[in-house]
Amino acid sequence: MTSFQEDRYAFLTEWHDPTASLLRRYQLFFYPKDNSVEMFDLKYQRMFLRRTKYEDLHLEDLFLGNRVTVFSRQLKLIDYGDQFTANKLGSKIEKTFALVKPDVLNKIGDIFELIYSAKLIVTKAKMTTVTWSQAADFYVEHQSKPFFNNLIQFVTSGPVVAMELTGDEAMSIWRTLLGPADSAAARQEAPQSLRAKFGTDAIRNVCHGSESLAAAARELEFFFPSTVGHGPGNTAVCEDSTCCIIKPHAIAEGLTGKILNSIREARFKIAALQLFNIDYANAEEFYEIYKGVVTEYPGMVTELCSGPCIVLEIQGADIPKSFRELCGPSDPEIARLLRPNTLRGLYGKDKVRNAVHCTDLPEDSVLEVQYFFRILDG
Ligand code: TYD
Ligand code: MG
Repeated sequence: MTSFQEDRYAFLTEWHDPTASLLRRYQLFFYPKDNSVEMFDLKYQRMFLRRTKYEDLHLEDLFLGNRVTVFSRQLKLIDYGDQFTANKLGSKIEKTFALVKPDVLNKIGDIFELIYSAKLIVTKAKMTTVTWSQAADFYVEHQSKPFFNNLIQFVTSGPVVAMELTGDEAMSIWRTLLGPADSAAARQEAPQSLRAKFGTDAIRNVCHGSESLAAAARELEFFFPSTVGHGPGNTAVCEDSTCCIIKPHAIAEGLTGKILNSIREARFKIAALQLFNIDYANAEEFYEIYKGVVTEYPGMVTELCSGPCIVLEIQGADIPKSFRELCGPSDPEIARLLRPNTLRGLYGKDKVRNAVHCTDLPEDSVLEVQYFFRILDG
């Protein structure tokens, strides 16, 4: 019997059933005391999964909009299932907007590291460029300021990375992490801040951060509009490039920043970057050529849709071969023996959770880049 004193969290969730190709809705219960889960089928009004211990789900993963995997099903958390859960978990979780400015894209790995160290999660990310009029719109509150033209000139001077950050008090935590707007002041007043570390002056000050939750909502809508096909597009060129996917397990382990730094240190150029939540059908389609060829195929599909992944378009000398060499043997155990400094050797766990995907066949390189940046982000 469940004691009434025991904490129980409830969520309304959706699961895309690939065989029936429809959305199924479940009530998901989580019991932190023994880390167990329970699922109730809302359509058929019956127990779907009796309370079972499940070590791979954690309280930190339970926030609205997130996707969690419960026994190989990727569930999207749509709403709180009861008032207790809403009160307990709903109060402080916020979303804020961050924009990495054009002169520090080579610091993107360090920026990811600092974001994670502040216990924030990157829930959306897209490398993009903004036109003069989009930038002027975005910064409309500053249009009468003396620095306005220089500011617009600067943020339109090259690619930027737009991000949605999620976490407890995300808005103010991100502002604190940034430090004062003027990088010189930041070095005086907040030496650990991002602007103190990587900023140049008052205009080249590393990143933007929303100043209020209302501003965050407006700015997120600007870069990540709820209507598909609108908003600033991705930067993929789909030429002389290859595809890299930072896999969901690596993102969940907080390895994104380290992987991005390793790629930069190896002198590859990241021409495009975007976070995707891949569904089961798309993961199957993407890995189609491995079906019946590698025994890990089902595991690879499940891994790819088990959480957000970050897809990169990579350019550099002698790609795709040179980039495959940086990734190393697909089995991390072998990589650690033969090529320990490769991405798989450094960050992989096993054959399926091997940190990164890279394109196998040279003729597929651009096709894989196109799959994400032209088809899925159409
Ligand atoms: P502001 O909203 O004051 O700072 P923050 O980015 O911390 O919210 O200013 C917006 C941007 O305008 C700022 O990131 C860089 C630019 N700016 C200047 O170029 N010169 C200045 O003196 C100030 C205050 C801002
Ligand atoms: Mg501001």
